[in-house]
Amino acid sequence: MLSWDELEARCRSCQGCGLADSRRSVVVGAGPRDAEIMLVGEGPGHQEDVQGLPFVGPAGRLLDEMLELIDLSRERDVYITNLVKCRPPQNRDPLNEEQDACIGYLRNQVALIRPKIIVCLGRISAMRLIKPDYKITLEHGQWVEKAGVHMTAIYHPAAVLRDPGRRPEVFQDLMGLRDKIAAVCTRTHL
Ligand code: URA
Repeated sequence: MLSWDELEARCRSCQGCGLADSRRSVVVGAGPRDAEIMLVGEGPGHQEDVQGLPFVGPAGRLLDEMLELIDLSRERDVYITNLVKCRPPQNRDPLNEEQDACIGYLRNQVALIRPKIIVCLGRISAMRLIKPDYKITLEHGQWVEKAGVHMTAIYHPAAVLRDPGRRPEVFQDLMGLRDKIAAVCTRTHL
């Protein structure tokens, strides 16, 4: 396992897949390194690539609102990162080989943070981290435990921006997250 400094340096110089050629930034992640909750999205978009931070575009603003609904803040409570650390061109889904090249960095982040809860943001993250045949429309908000970590997936905020009709389901899932935090977290104040 690499230390945070080693991990960041390794990510910043990574040439592990083709996304290295078109990136402006490597978006490693952001938030407290002792967070009990990790959020894992898909990959950086345009704004994230420009600023070098995860979820800072329109989807990120909605994510902040979603967190606020259950009194979570990204500065204090959650570490946010993505399956792949470099932007896929035209915001396409990250390819399997790109995910394969990058997943070790995420595993290293999980090992360093040792979260109690991991929330997958969207289908792609859930398919990689929960199970390959994950069906987000059917299974969002359900909880599984893997290696002692409580895991769930919710709709990706970008999907909610495209289809605001999904908001009630997201709200339900956030209530479920709040309950899970109350049950398993010790340092996260709701
Ligand atoms: N969408 C993602 O999945 N991740 C980001 O960081 C931004 C948008």
